[in-house]
Amino acid sequence: MTSHFKNALIIGASSGIGEALAKKLASDGTRVALVARSEDRLKAITGEMNNNDPVTNTDDAATSNSEHLYFVHDVRNTEEIPELLQLITRSLGGLDLVVYSTGVMHQVAFEEFDTVKDLEMLEVNLSGAVAWLNPVAERFGRLKAGTIVGISSVAGDRGRSGAPAYNTSKAGLTTYLEALRNRIGRYGVKVVTIKPGPVDTPMTEGLSGLLWLISAEKAASIILKKAKRGSVTAYVPARWRLLMFVFRSIPSFIFRRLKV
Ligand SMILES: NC(=O)c1ccc[n+]([C@@H]2O[C@H](COP(=O)([O-])OP(=O)(O)OC[C@H]3O[C@@H](n4cnc5c(N)ncnc54)[C@H](OP(=O)(O)O)[C@@H]3O)[C@@H](O)[C@H]2O)c1
Repeated sequence: MTSHFKNALIIGASSGIGEALAKKLASDGTRVALVARSEDRLKAITGEMNNNDPVTNTDDAATSNSEHLYFVHDVRNTEEIPELLQLITRSLGGLDLVVYSTGVMHQVAFEEFDTVKDLEMLEVNLSGAVAWLNPVAERFGRLKAGTIVGISSVAGDRGRSGAPAYNTSKAGLTTYLEALRNRIGRYGVKVVTIKPGPVDTPMTEGLSGLLWLISAEKAASIILKKAKRGSVTAYVPARWRLLMFVFRSIPSFIFRRLKV
């Protein structure tokens, strides 16, 4: 099978959008490396993608014959990243797509100011992305090729009273991705910013009243289309673009009265 991408790395691949992306890429013929913390989940998903052949973990990845590989890693351990990226690239035999899908969204009550929860969201959603995508950008810039996809969110388009730190992490990620594109786009590297609305994943489990909720598989299929095209910014699904345009146009003196 001829696939658009030969070798892909998905960071945050043990559930939700990352898992759906890994499976879709594998079924398209791309060799995939999956990264997250939950080894049991990674093992099961990678096993399924390998048609239940033996699955490889970090220790023997470089010598493995498995098509798809998993690597257990917490993105907060940033010092591990440069070496892990090298190991993954070597094990796959190259790299032409990297997706940063890692994220946490803690529920925060309206009057809650919990610094521990807030800093974890910034660390995982934003600092982890910078720590992974900096060395990827350096490599792709040097090679003058490659596609980077960052899963940001519609949540980053406005500072909503209900989720200050989550919104900030996504606004920061969107800005970082734009800046990265402005640095390495000139060398032919694609940097794609994805802004999904609600997607049915463990992150949104138990939340009610979610507008235009779509499945992780649907989101993955749209995201991969945008990645192949090398889009700049894609709302997922596309109708969020218009809604967020309106949302961003609400004057601050009105917006601050809304409990969103
Ligand atoms: N679902 C939505 O409605 C929605 C909407 C807009 C944007 N997004 C964004 O889409 C991305 C994927 O979210 P999802 O909905 O697919 O959520 P999910 O199912 O909860 O997946 C999150 C992924 O991040 C990984 N992760 C979390 N903390 C980590 C850490 N410290 N180190 C390494 N990996 C970590 C998780 O794996 P482990 O727990 O195994 O480490 C998991 O693989 C996130 O960035 C999210 O903010 C989601």
